[in-house]
Amino acid sequence: MTEEEPEESAAKKKYAFLEDLPGIGPATAQKLEELGFHTVESLAMATAKELEPAGISEKKAFAVIDAARSSISVSFVRADELLKMRQSVLRLTTGSKALDRILDGGLETQTITEFYGEYGSGKSQICHELCVNVQLPPEKGGLGGAALYVDTENTFRTERIVQMSKHLCLDPEQVAKNIIYAEAYTSDHQMFLLDNADEVIKENNVKLIIIDSLTAHFRSEYIGREMLASRQQRLNKHMHRIIRLARAFNAVAVVTNQVMAKPDVFFGDAVHPIGGHIVGHTSHTRVYLRRASHGPVRIGRLVSSPYLPEGEEIFKITENGIEDVSEEEKTKSRGR
Ligand code: GTP
Ligand code: MG
Repeated sequence: MTEEEPEESAAKKKYAFLEDLPGIGPATAQKLEELGFHTVESLAMATAKELEPAGISEKKAFAVIDAARSSISVSFVRADELLKMRQSVLRLTTGSKALDRILDGGLETQTITEFYGEYGSGKSQICHELCVNVQLPPEKGGLGGAALYVDTENTFRTERIVQMSKHLCLDPEQVAKNIIYAEAYTSDHQMFLLDNADEVIKENNVKLIIIDSLTAHFRSEYIGREMLASRQQRLNKHMHRIIRLARAFNAVAVVTNQVMAKPDVFFGDAVHPIGGHIVGHTSHTRVYLRRASHGPVRIGRLVSSPYLPEGEEIFKITENGIEDVSEEEKTKSRGR
């Protein structure tokens, strides 16, 4: 019994920096940083093969990853511990109680939520609102943290952040300070930004990672059937990187996606999201957004979730941001 005790304490050893890990000297640490591993958390989520370019042998890689994992306590767990991990999942409000309801209280940390829909359906507006909401304290539906916004279409507007912050009685300047913004120029650049995001996330207490849009660059760069396989492979890698960050830092990850028309559909929705099965399987929660009619009202439909039933709710986009549709407005629109 006594023999096990030292092992127990060694397994719980905490490493703050890469160089603290056994077998990692300054030169190797630098090589790891060049590969995008800046933190012990990101190393814990790495595969041995990914460390090969840093000149780390497979055997050593396993040991390093193991040490990093035990440091942040990621390993095999019993189901009761899994339950505990699930209990550490936090929720972020969308700003609309109705939309939160179909999501069982809001967007979850540790997984990816995908919003897909046609242009103008409100994907980017929801992203803006989430950047503000994440800064609210938990009792108001926030996570008391910062946001990281990767914008691929140059549609991020600080003016909207100002309007939404004011509506929530937050200081717009302070809110803007807590949104770390990067524009991605190509799909490679987009991947590079996320591959190197771990340090920024840790230093700034980022609790929300947004990629708006996940697929636009991939779609325009990889054209034709012969490029489809490599596009899907890259997208898969990209999404796994996002998931790992969300898990390592207990953050919400949000990606947006456009839709393509399905030429052969007669019933139901004649559109489907870009990226096929890869994006579908990796996005744990998918929400389809569409316009209700002319005007500010939008329909959000929970299309896929690991454990929630499908559901549909309406919300509206106003100057204030994402809001609920009042009962009065609902009756009015029914009467129209
Ligand atoms: P794409 O990125 O083009 O695919 O579309 P999207 O789904 O990201 O659309 P987005 O979130 O940008 O929604 C744009 C719509 O939001 C506009 O057509 C307006 O209806 C609404 N909207 C945006 N800004 C404002 C605003 O300041 N006030 C109001 N009332 N509505 C706004
Ligand atoms: Mg958009």
